[in-house]
Amino acid sequence: MRCLRHDACLARCRSNRYELRPAIRLVTRACPFKGILNSQSAEDFPFRPFPDGKPYRLLLGLRHPDGPWLDPDEDDEVVADELRQRAKHIQERRDAVIQQLDEPLAAEAGRELLEQLLRELPERHPTRFRLQGARLINLLTGEVFDTADPRVDPLEVAGRVTQEDFCLLAPGDGDDGAYRLIGGVVAFPAHWSMAEKLGKTLPQIHAPVPRWRSDAAHLVHSFMSRLAPPQPRIRWNWTLLPTAELHLSRFYTPPPAPHTAPPDDTTGIEHLHLRLERQMFHRLPRSGAVVFTIRTYQQPLARAVRDRPLVAAALAGALRDLPHEHLQYKSDLHLRLPALLAFLDEAAAGPVAVAAVASVVEAPTAV
Ligand code: HEM
Repeated sequence: MRCLRHDACLARCRSNRYELRPAIRLVTRACPFKGILNSQSAEDFPFRPFPDGKPYRLLLGLRHPDGPWLDPDEDDEVVADELRQRAKHIQERRDAVIQQLDEPLAAEAGRELLEQLLRELPERHPTRFRLQGARLINLLTGEVFDTADPRVDPLEVAGRVTQEDFCLLAPGDGDDGAYRLIGGVVAFPAHWSMAEKLGKTLPQIHAPVPRWRSDAAHLVHSFMSRLAPPQPRIRWNWTLLPTAELHLSRFYTPPPAPHTAPPDDTTGIEHLHLRLERQMFHRLPRSGAVVFTIRTYQQPLARAVRDRPLVAAALAGALRDLPHEHLQYKSDLHLRLPALLAFLDEAAAGPVAVAAVASVVEAPTAV
């Protein structure tokens, strides 16, 4: 038996039977969340009950990152597969995925972001990328990007060589100086699109998010204004969705049918996926734009909580404390809350019931 995940989380894996598997591909495919769900401390999870005795408010959850800003999967095939999906979305729905304001700062920030990737990818992942002059060669997919060619869009290259999505932000001209979205490439959005958000300020972008303006807008503005190039920050976002699809854009994919089963009917739990976003913020030193990086991971909920009672308990606690409007915002979770909580409470108590559901959701994995 051998743990094939990050060295840094080897110790955590040892205490988690689920991650210790003999088959290489099975392990890496089965474990997209890296160390985040293997911690023995609920403090590390992106979801947890709101602190006792305090009135609920939306928290920023910003931390100092304990790893690099990019987080590629360890399995070459997983990387290549996601890069192919990204290329397909860019080709088929370019306007939804890539947008950039027609202003010099936006173009400059896009070029600077690509320069960072050209420096980092071949150095950190020499078996996956090679740089020949200005030509970036992806050794996994065979693609070659001639970044000196003026017809080549830096944002497209950025979006096709990492599993991350990138948004570029800069202060606006308004009185409040609110940060606005000046460009980006987002191939795996969770029900939004670059086309819809380009040029908007952060409060405008977050208009559909309950309590964002009242609880977070002011703090986020102050955080963004103070973010210095050598001090990146990380936060996590989480949600539960009835799909494994990574590209969720209401403009191209019809939204899932409304959940109609009675709230305590556990049918459908097996279709719920836990979707996590690892969000990084760093400022580009030359242009001064802020890069907001989103790496998306998802896994069937039953598999994510199997043998992880702490995770199940933390998630149940978070769901119990979320205000009704936020449950509604998170793909109408209020409609299935009793069933979801019953399922998670059982998972928190022991692995038996979860194993039963997990056996339904686990498609045979190619090894
Ligand atoms: C510290 C900074 C930030 C915080 C605290 C924050 C917080 C949030 C939260 C809580 C949600 C709702 C997610 C859910 O419940 O599933 C959300 C959604 C979203 N965030 Fe942020 N966010 C931040 C920065 C950004 C930045 C820089 C962007 C850049 C584009 C961004 C774009 C979005 C978008 C597009 C959504 C979906 C909005 C929709 O439903 O239309 N966020 N954010």
